[in-house]
Amino acid sequence: MKPAEIASWISDAQKAFSAAKDLDSLKIARLAHTGDKAPISLASRGLGSLSPDEKASAGKLIGDAKAEIAKALATATEKLESERDSKVLLEEVVDITLPVQRTHRGGLHPISIIKNEISDFFIEQGYAVEEGPELESGWLNFDALNIPADHPARTMQDTFFIEPIESGVVLRTHTSPVQIRTMLTQEPPIYVICPGRTFRADELDATHSPVFHQVEGLVVDKGITMAHLKGTLDNFARHMFGPDVTTRLRPSFFPFTEPSAEVDVFFNGRWIEWGGCGMVNPKVLATCGIDTEVYTGFAFGMGLERTLMVRHGITDMHDIVEGDLRFTRQFGVGL
Ligand code: DAH
Repeated sequence: MKPAEIASWISDAQKAFSAAKDLDSLKIARLAHTGDKAPISLASRGLGSLSPDEKASAGKLIGDAKAEIAKALATATEKLESERDSKVLLEEVVDITLPVQRTHRGGLHPISIIKNEISDFFIEQGYAVEEGPELESGWLNFDALNIPADHPARTMQDTFFIEPIESGVVLRTHTSPVQIRTMLTQEPPIYVICPGRTFRADELDATHSPVFHQVEGLVVDKGITMAHLKGTLDNFARHMFGPDVTTRLRPSFFPFTEPSAEVDVFFNGRWIEWGGCGMVNPKVLATCGIDTEVYTGFAFGMGLERTLMVRHGITDMHDIVEGDLRFTRQFGVGL
């Protein structure tokens, strides 16, 4: 075991460690130069067979050599680890300019949006929101509203009757029966709106749907006049269509109002039929047990699909009923 031989083990190890390109090749070099079969390890194990004198001097040489090799290994490890760390930092850097993967959680249907908008508008003014069933008794849907038994609206062509026919149950053709339900169960003053789903035996086409939505308004109080109706509709129209719209009332006829009118809005340069309205017919008030000497009322009703179509220039009812997200998303309200 010559000192020159030991020095060559040191320099071999130093060269191998510093030649390692990465931590994996350093590991191979480490096993070769410090492992069980490395010359320095074999020499270390051979010390036992030497005489005490030789053992002391060779032991020191080998101990120093091991320390040198360990130092070279530590230096190489530190260098390669820091190289690996900076490489990882560079490779794993997050590019914040990349587009994100958006998952749409869904959104409200525009009919729901407009329904909420209308409800909020009236709730702020102290109105309550009432709802009634979609399966309604013929009496509430027609008779209590002063719609005579031979009225054309009551024919098979317009109304979905529920079997057995003698049950008198229909899919409500308008939200007006909710007026009756409210007046039968509440004392005036009454300030309510009744949004909801309504049904008529129509074919689905660009402007009709057998399932559609209406919102009904009903006010019953002392001293209510047509002027209150006009003012309420003006406000409502401005809220729905913008501050510049005006409304006009055209004489019309509904069995449940007297006098009755159609309400039009002047929007985008033309008059548009929006809904029906009038002073609640005293016959209807009386049917609901309201003292017609003390109370008067007004009512109105309009279609939500129609309101939406006018306001957003939607020309095809199919877009509203089909529920295609490409249409719905344009209204932009997420959940
Ligand atoms: N119910 C009527 C319809 O479906 C709309 C309507 C007209 C409602 C006049 C009213 C009203 O409350 O006063 O065509």
